[in-house]
Amino acid sequence: MIQKYIFGSPFPTDAVTAQVPQVPGVPPYGTFSLSGGFRFTYTMGADDIVYGLGAANRGINKRGYRYVNSCTDDTMHSEAIQSMYAAHNFIIVSGRETFGLFFDYPSSITFDIGYTRMDTLTVFCPRCDLALYLVEGDSPYDIVRQFRRAIGRSYIPPKFAFGFGQSRWGYKTQAEFRTVVERYRALHIPLDMLYLDIDYMDHYKDFTVNPEEFPDFPGFVSDMADQGVHLVPIIDAGVKVEEGYDVYDEGVEKGYFCKRADGSEFLAAVWPGYTHFPDVLDPEARAWFGEKYRRLIDAGVDGFWNDMNEPSIFYTPEYAEQFRAKLEAALKTVPFNPNAVGAKPKPEARGEYELFYHHVDGRQVRHDLVHNLYGYNMTRAAGEALERIAPDKRMLLFSRSSYIGMHRYGGIWTGDNRSWWSHILLNLKMMASLNMCGFLYAGADLGGFGDNTTRDLLLRWLALGVFTPLMRDHTALGTREQECYQFEDPEDFRHVIGVRYRLVPYLYSEYMKAALNDDMYFKPLAFVYPEDPMAPQVEDQLMLGDQCMIAPVYVQNARGRYVYLPEEMLFVKFLADGTLSQEVLAPGHHYVEVALNEVPLFIRRGRCIPLAEAAETVAALDTAHLTLLGWDGASYELYEDDGVSRSYDDPANYRTLTK
Ligand code: GLC
Repeated sequence: MIQKYIFGSPFPTDAVTAQVPQVPGVPPYGTFSLSGGFRFTYTMGADDIVYGLGAANRGINKRGYRYVNSCTDDTMHSEAIQSMYAAHNFIIVSGRETFGLFFDYPSSITFDIGYTRMDTLTVFCPRCDLALYLVEGDSPYDIVRQFRRAIGRSYIPPKFAFGFGQSRWGYKTQAEFRTVVERYRALHIPLDMLYLDIDYMDHYKDFTVNPEEFPDFPGFVSDMADQGVHLVPIIDAGVKVEEGYDVYDEGVEKGYFCKRADGSEFLAAVWPGYTHFPDVLDPEARAWFGEKYRRLIDAGVDGFWNDMNEPSIFYTPEYAEQFRAKLEAALKTVPFNPNAVGAKPKPEARGEYELFYHHVDGRQVRHDLVHNLYGYNMTRAAGEALERIAPDKRMLLFSRSSYIGMHRYGGIWTGDNRSWWSHILLNLKMMASLNMCGFLYAGADLGGFGDNTTRDLLLRWLALGVFTPLMRDHTALGTREQECYQFEDPEDFRHVIGVRYRLVPYLYSEYMKAALNDDMYFKPLAFVYPEDPMAPQVEDQLMLGDQCMIAPVYVQNARGRYVYLPEEMLFVKFLADGTLSQEVLAPGHHYVEVALNEVPLFIRRGRCIPLAEAAETVAALDTAHLTLLGWDGASYELYEDDGVSRSYDDPANYRTLTK
């Protein structure tokens, strides 16, 4: 059962699509205070678990830390950070009492989950204008299912998006892009997508391509398509300020950019230098910005990633002025105290989100009051436009920043992680929480974005990425080269990525079933084994679909790992020589050995999964000849469609296979 409580006058976010009955008063859990801001306080039982928060830091059980949901471009994903790129304000308390709460509040909101006091959950925000949704059900899983129905069907990508993609910030020339594809193809390492980072553009101008490098861009796109590769360009939130650049000229002329209080266009320096932000909260400006994607679609492009849409601001003239004034004052005192200058690294701390406005329903709304909706609406602009432009063709689309509601328009990647072993685990933990909030198409930069990767780190990370819907190797400018062919024995990479392709019929089926039924693709163990007291303790394994459990190795130099089995399972290893090892393991704890070039998978008792032969692209997979892996006598419901059109609900898409 879902009910809605309204406090003050909430900003309409369109996060929830279902008609939810509104009830007076406050939910019958914890206490509420509305003086000096909104505050919900709940005393947690010693064993209560708190799930949710989507793309937030730390564990699957969120207890023991404070999370400030305010979309932030922070590339240092240490354990200390409280704000990441997204704001997914949905939590589930599971224990003495079990209930879910969605705080539909579009600005900074804090979840103190046992940080100030270990037994106290407090959620607070400065203004008392929000819609609060209470979800009651039999279990956390049931609550997730109900919540997911209320927020609408998750985004469904084309099937090729289940292939492997290579990316790097720094590829510039057409020759560089071609080399990546040539080298993957020469080594027969599967590849479906090649990502174009900012340098493909003409001076970092959205919806342009560098004319010198790409004199015939449609020709390049089609050449790549002939080799089975989809090009996926990046689109940044900021539109470069440059007279004569039509997107800029039009946006200014029509008043589609965010404005300062005095009505002038707000200036923010991002990669292109000075930019303006399209006012994607205004439906008219949103439709206008979305329509620009058509240019690249007309050139043959069928996928995009939206970036810098927190929005990230490196610098504004207003802050520079403040900073200069403070610096000058500080320089008058010796010894010079650098702290007195107080240069703040983040736009929210610098007050820059208070400097510009959105035009919504005839009102001017200051950005900081709706900050968490920007990335969501940028991606909504694209998603709505793609549906208009190509009504019966799915496009790949994912974003860095998001809010619940955006899950209907695109997926996400988890932003600028690092080549750290701990980030393999962070990647795994986020996946289940993201599914609770509707984000099914998700993945991290495999191998790590910042810092230098190593061969073993990349292989281990790929062995997790085999299972995440988005499987992309991406790294930052200036880091060590990270394509699979840069390392010795590339056949190990061919094998690990090949396992992904062997599993695509399974992963795609489970994804589609999850999306079409508002279900989860990844679940915490406790959602599947609610009676097992050990299951909630497991933070480094996940259930995948209805058949499998994954337990990747994420420790440097480890030859294997401990794994917990809540029931009897078939332990499968995809061995480097292309064969499989299979062993039935009893419930309980085990140490399993997994070599660097192997992929481990656990199949639940009585289940089986389909397996294809590996291929170099998703399109080349032979799904007419699948084998079944798992327990004899088991059957599997395969979902298969053309992977492109939007006719998902056809019963002919399902077929039952029996082992
Ligand atoms: C941001 C993105 C990253 C991208 C870079 C350059 O840091 O998160 O993925 O490579 O910008 O566009």
